Amino acid sequence: MEMIKVLVAGVQQEKKEDILEALANVEYISTTDGADSFDQVLAMLEARHVDVVLVNAYINGNGYKLTEAIVNQHPGVAVIIIEQELEEDTMRAALFAGAKDVLVYPFAPAKLVDSIYRSYQAERKRRMAHHEKPVKTKQSGRGQVITVFGTKGGVGKTFVATNLAVSLAQKNKNRVALVDLDLDFGNAALALNIIPQFTIADVVNEVTSLDQDLLESYLIPHNSGVKLLAANAEPQMTEFINADYVGMLIRILQDAFDYVVVDMPARFYDPVDPAIQEADTLMLVATPEVVTLRNIKSCLNTLSMLKYPPNKTKVILNKTDSRSEIKPRDVETTLNARIYADIPADYRLVSSSMNQGIPVVMLAAKAKISRGFDDLVSKIINEQKAWQSGSPGTGNKKKLQEVSN
Ligand SMILES: Nc1ncnc2c1ncn2[C@@H]1O[C@H](COP(=O)(O)OP(=O)(O)O)[C@@H](O)[C@H]1O
Ligand SMILES: [Mg+2]
Repeated sequence: MEMIKVLVAGVQQEKKEDILEALANVEYISTTDGADSFDQVLAMLEARHVDVVLVNAYINGNGYKLTEAIVNQHPGVAVIIIEQELEEDTMRAALFAGAKDVLVYPFAPAKLVDSIYRSYQAERKRRMAHHEKPVKTKQSGRGQVITVFGTKGGVGKTFVATNLAVSLAQKNKNRVALVDLDLDFGNAALALNIIPQFTIADVVNEVTSLDQDLLESYLIPHNSGVKLLAANAEPQMTEFINADYVGMLIRILQDAFDYVVVDMPARFYDPVDPAIQEADTLMLVATPEVVTLRNIKSCLNTLSMLKYPPNKTKVILNKTDSRSEIKPRDVETTLNARIYADIPADYRLVSSSMNQGIPVVMLAAKAKISRGFDDLVSKIINEQKAWQSGSPGTGNKKKLQEVSN
């Protein structure tokens, strides 16, 4: 194993001794100290190779400033901030300064070693992502964001998002990213039979150094060509995922992909709001059932109250059945909105698709349900062509704060 070279910067004598002692017995870590001011630290980094810097949060009154300077001037060096206490904004400040981690002194030696090792690996991974630039075959311009939403669970948002993403990827070899923003219950990975090595929680840890290549290294390829950013398996990480990060993530993906399809939770809440704001198309999934329609109606009202551009919203009627008492026309009347596309119900096929983890559009490309997706994709593509010759609508940047139904 390679040696990890650690610089201890601006830490007071007794803490420093503690740290050096904790690291002395780790055979793959070597330490240096003697840099106790801003300038000394930066000079030291010029003079010698360092992998990880432990920065005292109070060095020259502001360790976060030093962190920023290190990250900007010495890409490849990972910074860990040593704090006295963890305040509400500490993690945020640290992330934005570009630190890989924050440790609150005193800490267990094992925690320190673990943090150094992980920070070093994360930085290495980032560097490698930069060297191995994937070949981009994105068609042109900024990618379209299609957000699949609706304030009702079980209507088929995940089903629509996954099959739409796959259909788009298979048409004209579009580059398609699928982002699972159902942070608590995300199951897009399951629908694609993917066991995620990485999730959105890992990406959020890297948020300050995030760029296209790094972000792509966290996406998991599916054999349809879709690349998935999976929801986190550990719900406790969800609290670190906020609207700033999600917005940043979506914008970076837009630069690398032709389509960014977002699978949403069944409610409005702040962290996932950028997926609604940045959407070129907001697909509202409804089913021909009274309860769902009532719900979608109130969702449409909320959007209208928030002055969300009505031309971005498209109603998808899922699980249609010719025997159903509620006809598409009734749905349009109730919602006072056109149905953009409909997808028939096919419980046997969908259940078989779920059990095998193969999207229906791949499992049975000729089935009626799959043709529903063909039509949907054709509409999207044709409309986009029409847009490109006209002018795109302006986005509504007003925040959708916690609106509940
Ligand atoms: N068109 C359809 N025909 C039959 N079953 C469907 C259809 N669309 C979705 N389903 C099933 O309905 C259930 C809920 O779908 P899901 O996509 O998880 O909903 P949501 O993401 O809105 O909570 C799943 O079991 C799914 O397989
Ligand atoms: Mg879902």
